[in-house]
Amino acid sequence: GTFDIGMIGLAVMGRSLALNMADKGFRVAGYNRSREVTEAMVKEYPHDNFTPFYDLREFVEALARPRKVMLMIKAGRAVDAVIGQLTELLEEGDIILDGGNSFFEDTRRRYEALKEKGIRYFGVGISGGEEGARRGPSIMPGGEKEAYEQIRPVLEKIAAYAEGEPCCTYIGPDGAGHYVKMVHNGIEYADMQLIAEAYILLKSVAGYTNAELGDIFEEWNQGELKSYLIGITADIFREKDDFEAGELLDYIVDSAAQKGTGRWASIESMKQGVDISMITAACNARILSNHTEMRKKAAGLLSGPEPVKAENRELFKNQVRDALYAAKIAAYAQGFDLMRDASKEYGWNLDLGKIASIFRAGCIIQAVFLNDITEAYRKNPELDNLMLDEFFRSRLEECQGGLRHAAAEGIRSGLPLPAMTEALSYFDTFRGGYTGANLIQAQRDCFGAHKFERTDREGTFHHDWGKRN
Ligand code: 6PG
Repeated sequence: GTFDIGMIGLAVMGRSLALNMADKGFRVAGYNRSREVTEAMVKEYPHDNFTPFYDLREFVEALARPRKVMLMIKAGRAVDAVIGQLTELLEEGDIILDGGNSFFEDTRRRYEALKEKGIRYFGVGISGGEEGARRGPSIMPGGEKEAYEQIRPVLEKIAAYAEGEPCCTYIGPDGAGHYVKMVHNGIEYADMQLIAEAYILLKSVAGYTNAELGDIFEEWNQGELKSYLIGITADIFREKDDFEAGELLDYIVDSAAQKGTGRWASIESMKQGVDISMITAACNARILSNHTEMRKKAAGLLSGPEPVKAENRELFKNQVRDALYAAKIAAYAQGFDLMRDASKEYGWNLDLGKIASIFRAGCIIQAVFLNDITEAYRKNPELDNLMLDEFFRSRLEECQGGLRHAAAEGIRSGLPLPAMTEALSYFDTFRGGYTGANLIQAQRDCFGAHKFERTDREGTFHHDWGKRN
């Protein structure tokens, strides 16, 4: 065959990526399980470099060797089913790329199974939604290093670019790419939750209208908070409703869905023993938001304080801005800490600076802030925690007052601020030098003879505690 690459799965993401590849001059073969999807695509988006196939064998035979097949299908069993069909048709040396949001342990398993058959398997994290896929996403490929050169030209050409560099880099072996995408999504959840908390603070405590909020976020989007999410948020505040007077935002049910990748990050952090409390808080905030009936009932039974009124709105607005920025630093510190730990745990040798650099454009968490993270890891690839970097240390110094003040006003107002308050706990646990864990060790030794270490002498100790009976 002569086609450069094949795309299986031509729904929104697969179609957009296939057209992106076709735009860049690659000859793309396309296949979809149900032929209607393929027919609709070629009718609506005809492209000289894209050819549809309706038979899997013909599709595979049309590809140049070593064949490259990308899957853009629903994560889970469907991926195993397609791989099963493909392995019958592919040959040694051929390459399968899974571009969906697959769970990294599935990717590890598939990688190992296909290795035995001589097929090279890549778990490829792709971020940026439909627009990103079509115009340039951020791409996180994980798999066999030697085989990467085969797919690198396509992936780098279709990726977003930041300062002339492609937002695509070889991440590491087996599940590394999908793992990093999972953490990206965890950070995405935390970012979104922090923005939502800034929103309810500004709205409840300072009484800002949607129009004013649109302006505030627009202003924030000119400075160090500049990011894709802040930008779309500014637009969202201004979007008029199609049916009623006012803005659409006010008519949307207060209950946030999730497909699960953020939650996976939280579960993995627990298994690994890494604190990503803000990402976990963001997951929990979505979960609790879904209990709309129970919340309605509780609202009638449980009371709280009236919102305090900000005396100086302008000052409060700036405190919320600082809160958002400081808490964002903590959220990224947690996410990167999780990747650092996974790198050791799985022997992936992740380059955190490089990973930060491919988040600079294309993906959902893209932000100018990522330049500073890239810089921090370039200066010190062994950096223990982002909060210890010189630049972020000084920004935390300047912004923590705002975080404390905004969070305190929110707490006094009875507003739920799970991510901001976790940011503070994380920061204060880190820097405070003392957490009260000595008491926990004393309790453990008291009831279970679990022993403790002392501050003043070597060794482990058990004390015969004078117990109550
Ligand atoms: C991306 C996104 C994307 C994810 C959506 C929805 O990087 O492009 O992370 O992959 O599927 O953001 O995620 P939830 O449904 O879990 O909110």
